[in-house]
Amino acid sequence: MKVKITGTGSYLPEKVLTNFDLEKMVDTSDEWIRTRTGIVERHIAADDEATSDMVAKAAVKALEMAKLKPEDLDAIIVATVTPDNAYPSTACWVQKHLGIRGQPAFDIEAACSGWIYGVAVGRGLIETGLGKKILVCGGETMSRALNWEDRSTCVLFGDGAGCAVLEPSDDDSGFLSIYLGADGNLGELLVQPAGGSRMPASENTVREKLHTVSMQGNEVFKHAVRSMQMAAIKALELAGIEGKDVDVFIPHQANLRIIDATRERVGIPKEKTIVTIDHIANISGATIPISLDEAVRAGRVKKGDIVLFDAFGGGFTWASAVLRW
Ligand code: ACO
Repeated sequence: MKVKITGTGSYLPEKVLTNFDLEKMVDTSDEWIRTRTGIVERHIAADDEATSDMVAKAAVKALEMAKLKPEDLDAIIVATVTPDNAYPSTACWVQKHLGIRGQPAFDIEAACSGWIYGVAVGRGLIETGLGKKILVCGGETMSRALNWEDRSTCVLFGDGAGCAVLEPSDDDSGFLSIYLGADGNLGELLVQPAGGSRMPASENTVREKLHTVSMQGNEVFKHAVRSMQMAAIKALELAGIEGKDVDVFIPHQANLRIIDATRERVGIPKEKTIVTIDHIANISGATIPISLDEAVRAGRVKKGDIVLFDAFGGGFTWASAVLRW
């Protein structure tokens, strides 16, 4: 049985923070951020906005496109590293916002690869008969997990949410392959040190800003390039196709140089690559579903198109998938 995407939706908070705004906050420049990363601006959640609020807004749009009502859903999955709370899950809060109850709702934590991990689980629920209509979302409030005095990380991330509805396919559209992987031995290179059971919140962790992203950018960069290239090639192999067969490439958006290095290695031209990093920056697990929704609504994904998704993130984790739209 094939599983396809029948609706997408996304939400970006109203407030926009430009590179020029950041110049006034830390020792950086629009020129450095633009040339080193491809980022021009990012959206930042309002003070009263949490991850589940943004996911719920994206979910409403995805359900509308899929022509479904919230009560039609058989499960809600949210990929996030910035949940509203440790528990309940963000997915449970989304269920509440949508005014429904009963169906399973849970979060997935695989950092920037989280949404593709969620799609794999959602597809599994459908294939094993546990449900037919699965909402798979990515939502992040990265601005709450940043050290706004650390120029090497605070310029890289943004806030937002994206969702997709998965349903069984009655034609030849659907996922042709999904590939997942991880290497926990390299976790220290990209970590939010405090706030969990290893280092619970204390006056010291707050003073030392240990509840924020800590990243060895250079090292992560090398692994990101290698893993994104490898994962893309694996998903294509599993689907029995090559880079030249891809109509739309939707990579995770951590750095434009990583995106370019990946598509060049896989043989995908620039015109077929969806780039959103300029206006959304890195929104971890929400990046790919937001980029997909923007591409769908801009008419860049057409019936029958071969879409390649590819992600890399903290863990380390990586994930890729091929979908015939
Ligand atoms: N403005 C100006 N200068 C800066 C800034 C800034 N915002 N940030 C760093 N610099 C300086 C550094 O201090 C350094 O100066 P030095 O040479 O005097 O020491 C210089 O710029 C170069 O720093 P690098 O870290 O070597 O810069 P690099 O080219 O590697 O770019 C970046 C840094 C953008 C972070 C890059 O390494 C990267 O994109 N890494 C991968 C990120 C990624 O893929 N993350 C995974 C997903 S995120 C997740 O899972 C949550």
